[in-house]
Amino acid sequence: MTANEIRSAYLKFFADRGHAVIPRANLVPKEDATTLFTGSGMQPLVPYLMGQEHPQGTRLVDSQTCFRAEDIDEVGDNRHTTLFEMLGNWSLGDYFKAEQLPWFWEFLTGTVGLDPERLYVTAFIGDKKNDIPKDTDSADIWEGLFKDKGIDAKVAEIGSEEDGYDRGIKPGERIFFYDASKNWWSRAGKPENMPIGEIGGPDSEVFYEFTHIEHDTKWGKHCHPNCDCGRFLEIGNSVFMQFIKRDDGGFDPLPKKNVDFGAGLERIAAAAIGDADMFKISLLWPIIRKLEELSGFTYDQNPVAMRVIADHLRAATWLAVDGVVPSNTAQGYVMRRFIRRAIRQALALDLNEDFLELVVPVISELYRSDFPELEARETEIINVLVQEEKQFRRTLERGVKEFNKLAGAKLTGETIFLLFDTYGFPPELSLEEAHEKKVEIDQDWRTDFDKLLTEQKDRSRTATVGQFKGGLADHSDISIKYHTATHLGYKALRMVLGDHVIQRGSNITPERLRFDFSHPEKMTPEQIKQVEDIVNEYIDQDWPMGFREVPTEQAFKEGALGAFGDKYGETVKVYTAGDPDGEWVSKEICGGPHVAHTGALGEGGKRYKIKKEEASSAGVRRIKAVLE
Ligand code: SER
Repeated sequence: MTANEIRSAYLKFFADRGHAVIPRANLVPKEDATTLFTGSGMQPLVPYLMGQEHPQGTRLVDSQTCFRAEDIDEVGDNRHTTLFEMLGNWSLGDYFKAEQLPWFWEFLTGTVGLDPERLYVTAFIGDKKNDIPKDTDSADIWEGLFKDKGIDAKVAEIGSEEDGYDRGIKPGERIFFYDASKNWWSRAGKPENMPIGEIGGPDSEVFYEFTHIEHDTKWGKHCHPNCDCGRFLEIGNSVFMQFIKRDDGGFDPLPKKNVDFGAGLERIAAAAIGDADMFKISLLWPIIRKLEELSGFTYDQNPVAMRVIADHLRAATWLAVDGVVPSNTAQGYVMRRFIRRAIRQALALDLNEDFLELVVPVISELYRSDFPELEARETEIINVLVQEEKQFRRTLERGVKEFNKLAGAKLTGETIFLLFDTYGFPPELSLEEAHEKKVEIDQDWRTDFDKLLTEQKDRSRTATVGQFKGGLADHSDISIKYHTATHLGYKALRMVLGDHVIQRGSNITPERLRFDFSHPEKMTPEQIKQVEDIVNEYIDQDWPMGFREVPTEQAFKEGALGAFGDKYGETVKVYTAGDPDGEWVSKEICGGPHVAHTGALGEGGKRYKIKKEEASSAGVRRIKAVLE
């Protein structure tokens, strides 16, 4: 079955069992300001799972486009995508385990035709602390279902997260009990991570085994269904949504027991063709084929670039379907990043000229017949992406122009550094230009480039020591890094929470940064994660940090941020991460000092992490963050 066939069959299967087929929700949540994107099928249904009556009844089914920008760094292997479709069915206080598990089993083994010998399942081991029992009901149901297929499925406890689940699978075992890290679902994860008022419950997952994939001990001594080596792929999750977190940290049962089922359409499609490479399925392979055709490279020659391009453009296309346009804030910013990353990756395939107008129509073709909202606006959608490509290529062109002026007969590390430092033109593009223009490349370019980069960092450090008054306890390297991290974090908080976020205080020691800001409520774990991801992305992007002195009015016109209550003179120093007149991610009125490049914050594999989020005073929140 193709992915489109699986989607239709799933909707029909559950419609035949009394479910109302509901339309997918927009990728930009309309009534949920806590998250930038719809990331699961249940998200738009939370109010109904909490007890509100749904106008279409107590049995619902849909296929929900989901977008998880936080998975961006995983894209490139054979199974991660940022956009996917989640097949979902829900019981709002209607049926429960005894119907849900057999139905999904029948769908997989009957409708899709998966070999039951390739299927493994999991259930919740229980949580004594929170008084939540072991889910033996699910295990019993699974045993019976396997038996119907002539399989004597043995049950086992796989252990806990602390021991790395390193027990392995003994002969005949197919039903595994895991702890809350694996078999408990809420939007915030494990019971202890759930905020007050959040709903969750134990879940039961089904895995497909790709027998041709050998276990890799890099992921642990023994393989098991939840191992990340790629041998097992989770293809569906039945959440028994029945608890709500109380003020005192314990759990109350919800008024009604619900089923919240979600399955990755793309994953079931991969299982259906028995290929562990998700990019071989009918919703991705045509994009890869087009890239092969346009570039002259085969998929095997550069799978990573092709996967990234296919994933990112498919995601950006869907964002366009849902009305997002590239910009410098919120959803538009994420979309811009995705399109630009795809175009950068395309350079590795020698796709140096506009190609989106040829690839995006292939993507829309894959969905057109099943999604009228895409068909109705197809030309407009394609155009949104094509225009962004044109604009980005102009930025790239400016770098190339400067390259021509500066390179001469031999490309030196110094020139590469200058292009990088002043125009944001990445070193690898300078090298490519040199190859193309047959300009000789100085063999020692890398050494010189690195030396200049270090010198520049030292220079900016010396130049700015002593200039900064507020917040910084000292001028050690690490405090300077935390100062830059404070700027990036400020920007990220505004992107995630909104423009009402204003700095109310800052304090930096070599151990951590502390930042106070206006915001009326507690941040959700998801928001914290988003802020961390954005800052880490800025670190990875290695933006140059520089300052210039400008009239105060101009600084604000340019979008520079200040702190609440600060007084400014006629002119101010504005620190920018990026090019102040071009592409930048943070602009702030500040005396410094800062690192020369945001990448310095990530040296030694360090990541920005928020360790604490708490109230500081009424309407003001406080975070403490570290680079670790
Ligand atoms: N909420 C569960 C998930 O997202 C099932 O829908 O996996």
